[in-house]
Amino acid sequence: MTPNHYNFNQTTPQIEERVDALLAKMTLEEKVGQMMQIHIHEGNRAEMEERIRQGQVGSILSLYGVKDTNHAQRIAVEESRLGIPLIFGNDVIHGYRTIFPIPLAESCTWEPALLQEAARIAAEEASANGVDWNFAPMVDVCREPRWGRIAEGAGEDVYLGSVMAQARVRGFQAKGLTSGRKIAACPKHYAAYGGAEAGKDYNTVDISERTLRDLYLPPFEAAFDEGAGTTMSAFNDLNGIPSTGNAFILRQILREEWGFLGVVLSDWNAVGELVPHGFAADLKEAAKRAALAGVDMDMISDAYHAHLAELVREGAVPAPIINEAVRRILRLKIQLGLFENPYTDEALASESILKPEYRAKALEIAQKSMVLLKNEGGLLPLDEGQRIALIGPLADDHHHILGAWHRIGEDADTESVLDGMRAVFPLANVAHMEGIPLERGDAPHFREAVEAAQSADVAVLVVGEGEFMSGEAHSRAHLGLPGQQQALVEAVHATGTPVVVVLMSGRPLVIPWIAEHIPSVLQAWHGGIRAGGAVARILGGRVNPSGKLTATWPRAEGQIPIYYNHKSTGRPPTGDGTLQFDMIHLSDYMDEYISPQFPFGFGLSYTRFAYADLEVVTPTLGVDAALVVEAAITNTGERAGEEIVQLYVRDLAGEVTRPVKELKGFQKISLDPGESQTVRFEVPARELGFHGLDMSYKVEPGDFKVWVGPNAAEGLEGEFAIERG
Ligand code: BGC
Repeated sequence: MTPNHYNFNQTTPQIEERVDALLAKMTLEEKVGQMMQIHIHEGNRAEMEERIRQGQVGSILSLYGVKDTNHAQRIAVEESRLGIPLIFGNDVIHGYRTIFPIPLAESCTWEPALLQEAARIAAEEASANGVDWNFAPMVDVCREPRWGRIAEGAGEDVYLGSVMAQARVRGFQAKGLTSGRKIAACPKHYAAYGGAEAGKDYNTVDISERTLRDLYLPPFEAAFDEGAGTTMSAFNDLNGIPSTGNAFILRQILREEWGFLGVVLSDWNAVGELVPHGFAADLKEAAKRAALAGVDMDMISDAYHAHLAELVREGAVPAPIINEAVRRILRLKIQLGLFENPYTDEALASESILKPEYRAKALEIAQKSMVLLKNEGGLLPLDEGQRIALIGPLADDHHHILGAWHRIGEDADTESVLDGMRAVFPLANVAHMEGIPLERGDAPHFREAVEAAQSADVAVLVVGEGEFMSGEAHSRAHLGLPGQQQALVEAVHATGTPVVVVLMSGRPLVIPWIAEHIPSVLQAWHGGIRAGGAVARILGGRVNPSGKLTATWPRAEGQIPIYYNHKSTGRPPTGDGTLQFDMIHLSDYMDEYISPQFPFGFGLSYTRFAYADLEVVTPTLGVDAALVVEAAITNTGERAGEEIVQLYVRDLAGEVTRPVKELKGFQKISLDPGESQTVRFEVPARELGFHGLDMSYKVEPGDFKVWVGPNAAEGLEGEFAIERG
């Protein structure tokens, strides 16, 4: 089958000949020009247009509007000496104008096909609006809920992250976009940016090479295998060498080991930041170190513009380094068809956004991304006849639901939870009361909100984070509800009226009190333009929730980093109790459980699923064979529902220690009440390996455990062995 998407990580002799012909005509300054990405704003417009005219610009980022992109393109194509087109980059992270749930939420659907579709829709809208190059997907594996950018990725797991990375690449690089144009994806941030120490953005990452290779790199490699044509070098210091000056990851691994042909773009001013990192004495040395390490294009720092040609003339940067970088950039422009088709059709731009089918897809994804964390006594779904007090700073919110990277997404495009509730429940039964502001501040209506709860049959509290509390440079040390929201939840609970808490956030939160006292909790994330409708349909039972967490929720900030695929230690704890008065010396806390509040892979449904009859079809297998495991899943409840069935393994003894569990497969199935299905997993043994003592990838013969279960903490257990040869 021919793929439905482009592969930009490959080339042809014809393309290379075209590049050769161009390179032969270019001056050194024009070559360096291709290696610059600029940002145009009111303050620098005239200067930047002149630079384009002089052939000193290869790319522009974050320029909105087809008129402006076409205008800049016209200068490049018609007024510069060689007429090389510009490439326009932008961040289309969870939708261009049709804003989808944040990527972390999207990953909780565990449905790669849906993520692919969301990415394709984003590409449809963006390409019709002048974007050729999308700085997404963000594929940083992240075990750090304090880090605001956990919102942008697919959570903590390397396998799930790789599958989702590929799905998004397929969507962004889809063939047949209505604009007649193409988009190149840019998996980022290369590398290990998600490992930021203490969850502080831009912070140092100091990890073993094995962790780098086993955990952080595979989603990148998977994305390149799928045809992603570019990547972005990260801000962070990686084992003492900032990623943007790191030849080990940018040359040895990326080029030599993986054979990546695409463009490496620095992150925003990351070349310039080699100076404050203490890796370069000044901007000139920064330009040299980044170029030598393998950064092809400098995003806005101007280090290349100011110094690269001189560095080449001085012999400090060899000319072939420049030629190779420019070759990659020109190749991408040729692959994107920019020489033949440099302009975007202005008539198409506005009619290409927010189509009804895009809005419908945004609703579907929002519904499937939400995770039912608790539902004691079956309080949910609500009865349509109940009198509902809808309370909280996010209950009628039209802005924060858009999430961290909504850019040109508009509040007016959204439906709030209140809008959704009014469409699902009889109008007269929904009383709305904001109660308190999102953050600190006066709360004159606090009491009224509590009183509203008193006279209702059920209180629905919509609380959580604002969109500005996650995303870049928005890390938090305290992961509870901001401002007076916790006090409001407790006051409403004290009325005795049953309470449903709907949480909105860009990260896992720390909510031990809510998890203990509130009967029903729905995690709605920042769910995009249709989030309100999705919440209401779930609360009203029109939709049965099916999302499952892709990042562990801690009980306390002190447990962080907490993730399911940790190592065993030499003293693994035997239970989950707090061992305050216990003198056994095990790896646990004196004052907190070691288990998370909600484990990776966890999520409830309005129905129940029973797991039975685990069969390890291949109790022994060779390294070239596949592990085959089956289990029967039955819907034992009263409603139809979807279940995400997960397969985990443990390699019991290795030449290096192995995690206590590793996700190796998942399947989403739909079951009617009483229906049963045998789910079959086939996992190639080569996917059960790791980077060994000599740092090569290997699959070791030996004994394994395997689980098929509803999340990382539960499941049917079996065993198998991999035999030599
Ligand atoms: C972010 C990138 C983004 C770039 C361009 C940076 O600050 O780290 O993720 O692509 O800006 O907007």
